[in-house]
Amino acid sequence: ASTLAAAAQQSGRYFGTAIASGKLGDGTYTGIANREFDMITAENEMKIDATEPQQGQFNFSSGDRIYNWATQNGKRMRGHTLAWHSQQPDWMRNMSGSSLRQAMINHINGVLNHYKGKIPYWDVVNEAYDDNNGGRRDSNLQRTGNDWIEVAFRTARAADPSAKLCYNDYNIDNWTWAKTQGVYNMVKDFKARGVPIDCVGLQSHFNSQSPYNSNYRTTISQFAALGVDVAITELDIQGGSASTYANVVNDCLAVSRCIGITVWGVRDSDSWLGANTSPLLFDSNGNKKAAYNSVLNAL
Ligand code: XIL
Repeated sequence: ASTLAAAAQQSGRYFGTAIASGKLGDGTYTGIANREFDMITAENEMKIDATEPQQGQFNFSSGDRIYNWATQNGKRMRGHTLAWHSQQPDWMRNMSGSSLRQAMINHINGVLNHYKGKIPYWDVVNEAYDDNNGGRRDSNLQRTGNDWIEVAFRTARAADPSAKLCYNDYNIDNWTWAKTQGVYNMVKDFKARGVPIDCVGLQSHFNSQSPYNSNYRTTISQFAALGVDVAITELDIQGGSASTYANVVNDCLAVSRCIGITVWGVRDSDSWLGANTSPLLFDSNGNKKAAYNSVLNAL
């Protein structure tokens, strides 16, 4: 195969990227994205502040621009994200208690009503665990009660029964870390109690503070053994090591329930980390990097 998507399809997987609606007029950008990737995540356009800027007033214009581009080019999407402590609109950031809980439910219903049957995977809850221990991150949503995550998943299941519902987080890649174990125990508990969860997203933002570790394959297979699919959802590697990219691909391919890989941007210049960290598969001019060839060969 000569593209990432075609290579991933050889094993029934996908290869995705994050897309920014403001760049859809950039022909170099869309040329690479259309050629190489078959799964699309909106980098910001389906987040809470974008889709419900005023309470009860939904706006899907930017999200739909990406959805339409993806669909017209034969690509599927990962929806990102319905409940998160970050990128909340001002009206939500200032809320608490039962009114915030109800606003979260209304938000999930509003977004999934619009995209019902159109987006096969959703990051229902993003980044709900604390970085330094196995517990929950403190947030306005967490302060509405510990059951907010399962309420979000049950609400999402009822609103769009066809969507696969994912929990997505960073620093849950290293199997020995407390945060990984915290999320693992939550998924295990959800499966035991019948809370509807279908997949776990490992964001996989690798850097010197949270580097790739060879136990990544263990993490993927342990989550999969709970009966959920695993997706690598926001991959970037600071420094862009070709061998580390190959390790990530090989670890996913080693686990049948690892269903696909998404890199968090097209070119280095598109990365939220800045082009100087060289974290992606294409350089800022759109040329394939060594990491690209390494990934293509590994797939
Ligand atoms: C980032 C986007 O890439 C930036 O454009 C934005 O300013 C902040 O959010 N974890 C996530 C993503 O789940 O939504 C984040 O995306 C990166 C970290």
